[in-house]
Amino acid sequence: MCGIVGVVGAKSPINVIIDGLKKLEYRGYDSAGIAVINDKNFVIVKEEGKIIKLENKLKPWQKKLRNCEIAIGHTRWATHGKPSKENAHPHYSNKVCVVHNGIIENYDKLKINLQKDKSLKFLSETDTEVLPHLIEKHLIKTNDLKQALTQACAEIHGTFALAVIFKDHPDVIAVAKRGSPLVIGVGEKENYVASDFYALANYTNKIIILEDDEFALIKSSEIEIFNKNHHQIERPIKTMESQKVKIGKDGYDHFMLKEIFEQPRVLEETIQGYINLADSSIHLPNFIFDLNKIKKITIIACGTSYYAGLAGKYIIEEISGINVEVDIASEFRYRHYPFSDDNLMIFVSQSGETADTLASLKYAKQNNQKILSIVNVAHSSMAQLSDVVIRTLAGPEIGVASTKAYTAQITVLSILAIHLANLRQKISPKEQGVLLKDLANTGTKMTQMLDDNEIRNIKKIAYYLAKSKNLLYIGRSVSQITAFESALKFRELTYVNAQGISAGELKHGTIALIDKKMPVIVIAPHNSKNELFEKTMSNAQEVNARGGKIILVSSKKGLTSFNKNSKYKIEIPELNGIIQEALIPIIPMQLLAYYVALFKNHDVDQPRNLAKSVTVE
Ligand code: F6R
Repeated sequence: MCGIVGVVGAKSPINVIIDGLKKLEYRGYDSAGIAVINDKNFVIVKEEGKIIKLENKLKPWQKKLRNCEIAIGHTRWATHGKPSKENAHPHYSNKVCVVHNGIIENYDKLKINLQKDKSLKFLSETDTEVLPHLIEKHLIKTNDLKQALTQACAEIHGTFALAVIFKDHPDVIAVAKRGSPLVIGVGEKENYVASDFYALANYTNKIIILEDDEFALIKSSEIEIFNKNHHQIERPIKTMESQKVKIGKDGYDHFMLKEIFEQPRVLEETIQGYINLADSSIHLPNFIFDLNKIKKITIIACGTSYYAGLAGKYIIEEISGINVEVDIASEFRYRHYPFSDDNLMIFVSQSGETADTLASLKYAKQNNQKILSIVNVAHSSMAQLSDVVIRTLAGPEIGVASTKAYTAQITVLSILAIHLANLRQKISPKEQGVLLKDLANTGTKMTQMLDDNEIRNIKKIAYYLAKSKNLLYIGRSVSQITAFESALKFRELTYVNAQGISAGELKHGTIALIDKKMPVIVIAPHNSKNELFEKTMSNAQEVNARGGKIILVSSKKGLTSFNKNSKYKIEIPELNGIIQEALIPIIPMQLLAYYVALFKNHDVDQPRNLAKSVTVE
């Protein structure tokens, strides 16, 4: 989704901006732009498409702009107006130039008002373009940067992170934030602003995190932070873990493939982070409330993180006996939810910035709920607002389609489930030891799913599925959640209509889709404790009877029992318990989506229309 980078005081600001924007590429975007001030004039260069196009277009400017010290840049993910050069940021008025993340909800009203001045020209279809005109209007009235910024922001409804430069003040970047993330980078005689710390990682590891309705004037050797009443505010300077965040493909063709292969290591690191296997003890961060008093859990998330939450429901309910409700954040935030004191609210998010999940968290906080967030990004907005944070230790996830973050989230939810079961004496210390050992053994089983034979088989099936126009996945219990998540991965990467259905629900409607052309992936792990295997296979028979083409995902015993009735087979190891069932079969399903997308020549790491971090509603 949209990204902001700005710098003041730098020797080559264009290089800083291009480098920062490239770091944000993984978030998904459709156009990019940059503005610098040269001899009291704006130089604005924008391009639709990849940053490399913008970089090439800037080459002739490099020499001419060598004395500039200030620049702002942006990657845009279209919301208001199609992806195009005109709609790309920065947007500008006569004296003010702005890059913006978020959505200005009342932009049409603001625009009508501004257009009363017939001399104003609007050049784009965006909501953002009202901002430079609005700020300039207040600047003319007040002749004061702080007042112009705060008064303009007071008129805006919606979410925003802004970086603004001014023709008449070529030494300052003004910034403002409400609902969208923004950090200030503190350097030596040069300072920065960005929507994500990664963008600045090559330049500084010292950051200031702005809170909602805070503003700043950033100069090369001074940063002034203030609130809407212009009172100065002190904000701590945080030191980030590592100055140079290395983000590379490590020899893999795509980030997504690398991240799929990283999963056994991520699982191991998460286990090492929270479990001592020597004495089977669990060490989660301190809970500032009494977990024993929790009677119910509500998990809120979006997309893949929502599916991790659904898997968490099955795992927590089975292992700890606590009732778990799961909701999609975009629904939850507008629900009249009956909050109660014995409820624990868990927010699951890779980025920790997803607009709907963040709004839901704030809604729960306003209602005095106990808030636990499970996030991958340490200093994210969700992490800062939560009572307790359990980090998934997946490392940066760059592929837009989530893979390792999903399995890391399920791992953390599983550890939490075992911890809760222990606290309420639902399991004995011996049973806890067995559960933790099974979790620790999951990494080895994941690795088996990534060996050359498996990959060859997956590629063969992918070649077949690349010709298909539809695809169904079915499963029961937590394998049903794997079916949902697998279908989402398939849709995202292949642009083919794939659906995950609870196997038992198939005959209540969706079975009408089954004919000879319909491939159906049946996820049916087989083990002695899994009473649902037979039932899933009955549903597979119903598909078979109608000519559907079955791809069966099961262990050797399961595959043998259904031998002739499946067109393709994917063998998974024997699984011990629900946690392994949630974590193992998803690996070949991620690979399948990946290889079908490759056969279709799609951009695997940045599928069309998608953004890594969805910071608008
Ligand atoms: C799908 C995917 C998305 C995210 C969703 C939530 O592969 O990545 O569905 O899971 O946008 O994002 P986070 O986890 O950052 O809140």
